[in-house]
Amino acid sequence: MPGKVAMSGSVRVPPLDLKAQYARIRTEAEAAVARVFESQQFVLGPEVEALEREIAAYLGASHAVGCASGSDAILLALLGLNIQPGDEVVCPAFTFFATAGYVVRAGGIPVFADIDPVTFNLDIASARRALARCTRAKALLPVHLYGQTAPLGEVETLAREAGVSLVEDAAQAIGSWDAEGRKAGTVGAVGCFSFYPTKNLGGCGDGGMLVTSDPEVAERLRVLRSHGSKPAYFHHVVGLNSRLDALQAAVLRVKLKYLDAWTVERRERAAYYDARFSDAGAATSATPLDSGGLPLRTPHPAPTGARHIYHQYVVRVPAESRDALQVHLKAQGVDTMVYYPLPLHLQPCFKYLGYREGEFPEAERAAREVLALPMYPELTEAQQDRVVDGILSALNDT
Ligand SMILES: Cc1ncc(COP(=O)(O)O)c(C=O)c1O
Repeated sequence: MPGKVAMSGSVRVPPLDLKAQYARIRTEAEAAVARVFESQQFVLGPEVEALEREIAAYLGASHAVGCASGSDAILLALLGLNIQPGDEVVCPAFTFFATAGYVVRAGGIPVFADIDPVTFNLDIASARRALARCTRAKALLPVHLYGQTAPLGEVETLAREAGVSLVEDAAQAIGSWDAEGRKAGTVGAVGCFSFYPTKNLGGCGDGGMLVTSDPEVAERLRVLRSHGSKPAYFHHVVGLNSRLDALQAAVLRVKLKYLDAWTVERRERAAYYDARFSDAGAATSATPLDSGGLPLRTPHPAPTGARHIYHQYVVRVPAESRDALQVHLKAQGVDTMVYYPLPLHLQPCFKYLGYREGEFPEAERAAREVLALPMYPELTEAQQDRVVDGILSALNDT
């Protein structure tokens, strides 16, 4: 149909649209950047200190410590909690690489656990088994994947019972909370955040933040991020160079003011996807794909009172059609992503840990079935319709 062809050319749908976000804050962002240039103070300094205070206030945390990336936040958290070479850290097998990669960078051994197929977050029974297998467990490192909190009450209890530190990888989850109102990143000994540009609160380059309620841990983190130097040029510990730039802090301070409004917009867009897919007969991820009906599963609603911030809106589709669906959507101008195509226990660099295929079936199934749809506050209804219609036409043809 000519009309359809014209539409496919005119309505393109990227996975996210940072230019659209920039258009909304251009004047303020440029003023913030100019302020840093006028100051000529580029590393740490007043902008970073102000951001640290503002993030701590936003999260209701006592201390926030800026660093160079979310990955470094994980490394610094583990070093700050005194993880020693050979210590074991339990984390999910299905997450971004840095969660386990930086356990290794800290000298530790990642011990993987499976995920809950409904939420994609850490499976508590599997994490308990992983801890029981350990001989030198030092930390539990859950991830709040896609912007939804891992079961905070349960991970807190599990860490306490096992006598290990709780470190939260909240890189994807700033501003999310659980049904009891506990905010991602504020429950464990240290919470780790990423300001990578694609995150809900993203800078104009790399950046990260650690939060903690313990003043001594906060002080150790500040020392570690600057080569372990205190006072200047005297080193009782070996740290790293992982300081946050003033330019990042200045831009992030502008964006932080809008974060909650953007989260509301993301949640509205998630609700629109939910409604359109549900009208077409899709169940949520609480119903396995192989139980029939439309072969698509939407994110299962977060418990009442909890806030999912939809860093990603991720559906499940049958493994055998996922990649073809992605190609089909791309041809229609819709870009989707697969977060993540290979679970961590099967990554070549972790072969030495000795895991086998089949060991974490839910992590492996998720890697085959997940598809992240375009999600950002500026997404229009016409764009969302295009995504949904493209998916439904492909699924109904199969
Ligand atoms: C779950 C998770 N952990 C850690 C990181 C690492 O953050 P960064 O990219 O800022 O180093 C990311 C970001 O990509 C992430 O998604």
